[in-house]
Amino acid sequence: MYRVASIGGDGIGPEILVEGKKVLDAAGEKYGFEIEWTDYPIGADRYLETGELVTEDELKELSAYRAIYFGSIGDDRVRPGVLEKGILLALRFYFDQYVNLRPIKLLHGVSTPLAGKGPEDIDFVVVRENTEDFYVGIGGRFKGRHHADLQVARDLYSVKFGLDAESDAEEIAYQIGVLSREGSRRVMEYAFDLAERREKRVTSVDKANVLSDVYGLWREVFTGVAAAHPTVSTEFNFVDAVTMWFVKNPEWFDVVVTPNMFGDIITDLGAMIQGGLGLAPGGNINPEGTSMFEPIHGSAPKYKGLGVANPIATIWAGSLLLDHLGEHEAADAVVRAIEGTIRDGVVTKDLGGTARTADVGEHVAALIRS
Ligand code: NAD
Ligand code: IPM
Ligand code: MN
Repeated sequence: MYRVASIGGDGIGPEILVEGKKVLDAAGEKYGFEIEWTDYPIGADRYLETGELVTEDELKELSAYRAIYFGSIGDDRVRPGVLEKGILLALRFYFDQYVNLRPIKLLHGVSTPLAGKGPEDIDFVVVRENTEDFYVGIGGRFKGRHHADLQVARDLYSVKFGLDAESDAEEIAYQIGVLSREGSRRVMEYAFDLAERREKRVTSVDKANVLSDVYGLWREVFTGVAAAHPTVSTEFNFVDAVTMWFVKNPEWFDVVVTPNMFGDIITDLGAMIQGGLGLAPGGNINPEGTSMFEPIHGSAPKYKGLGVANPIATIWAGSLLLDHLGEHEAADAVVRAIEGTIRDGVVTKDLGGTARTADVGEHVAALIRS
C-alpha cells in the first residue's frame, strides 16, 4: 500500500486531479497495489478565508510522503505570485525537488502543429533545474535616493537617462539569478543517467553568450559531468535558438537539461508541439525525498467548474508518479490507456472532441481495467 498526498489547488485543479486519482486507483486494482490518498485543502479558497498558504505542520506531515499528486494553483481573486510562490514554489523548494522532469512526447493519435512531424520525431525529455536561477527570490525595488544601494542603477540614471539618481521620481527593480556548482551538477547527473537509458544524447540549453557568469559556470559543470559519461554525446544550444530547433527539428533532441527559467519557458513550447497544454505532464523530483507530480499547465480559471478541462496531462503526471514509486508496468499501462482513449475519440474540446473531463478519466480507467 502506498500513501500519497493530494492537493487539488485552484481553478480546474480539483476536477482534473479527481480523474487522475480515479485512473491510478484503476491501475492499482489491475496491478495489485492500493493507494491511500490524503487530501490537503491547500489553495486560494483557504488562503482567502484564513490567510494560510502552506502551514509548518503541513510541511512536516507532507515530508512523510514519497509522492504528492498536485492539480494546479492560481486564482484571479489573489494577487499574482502569492499562491504560485507561497504554495507551488514553496513546496518545490522546501522538499528540494531539484529535478523538474517534463517529457515532450507526441502520443499516437494526437496532432501536432508541426507539419510533417509525427510521434517518431517528437519524443524527448526536458530536465529543468528546479531550485535555483531567477527563482531563488533575491531582488528588490528602489525609489529615489535608494538608488545608491545599487551603483549600477545610479550609473544608468545619470549616464543613460540624464536623470538625477537622488530624485524620488524614478524607480528601479532587480532580480538576481543564482546558480551553484553543486546545484547544477546534481541535475545534470540526473539528465545524463536518464540519457544513458534513452538515446544517449544530452543538450544543454543556456544563454552563456550573454549571461556568462551564471551560465558560464553552468557550461563548465556540464563539461565536467559529460566527461564522466563518455557514452553520451553532448551539445550546447542557446535558448533563443533552441525555440527554433524545437519547431524545426524536434527529432534532434533526446534529453535537454536547462536552468530553471528557460526550462519554464521552453516546456510550454514543448507542450504545444506535443498537442497542447492539456497533454503535458511534469514531475518535481527529489530522488531521496518527497517528490510531486502535476500537469505543467496552470489553473485555467476560465474553465473552472465547467467540466471541459482536459485531464490527460494530470493523468499522465500520475503515470510519472507510479514510475517514481517503482510501479513501472502500471505506469506504462496508464500511458497506453491514454493513447487508447485518444484513439477512441474520447477527448475534450481542446483536442477537437466533445467529451467531458470525467468521461476522459472514466474511459482511461476502463481501458486499464479491461
Ligand atoms: P494556464 O496553463 O492555466 O492556461 C493557459 C491556457 O491553456 C488556458 O486558458 C487554456 O486555454 C489552456 N489550458 C491549460 N490547461 C488546460 C487543460 N487542462 N485543458 C484544456 N485547456 C487547458 O496558464 P495561465 O492562464 O497563464 O495561468 C492561469 C493561472 O495558473 C495563473 O494564476 C498562473 O500563475 C497559474 N499557473 C499555475 C501553474 C501550476 O500550478 N503549476 C502553472 C502555470 C500557471
Ligand atoms: C510551471 C509554472 C510555475 C513555474 C509558476 C506557476 C510558479 O509556470 O510549473 O511551469 O514558473 O515554474
Ligand atoms: Mn510554466
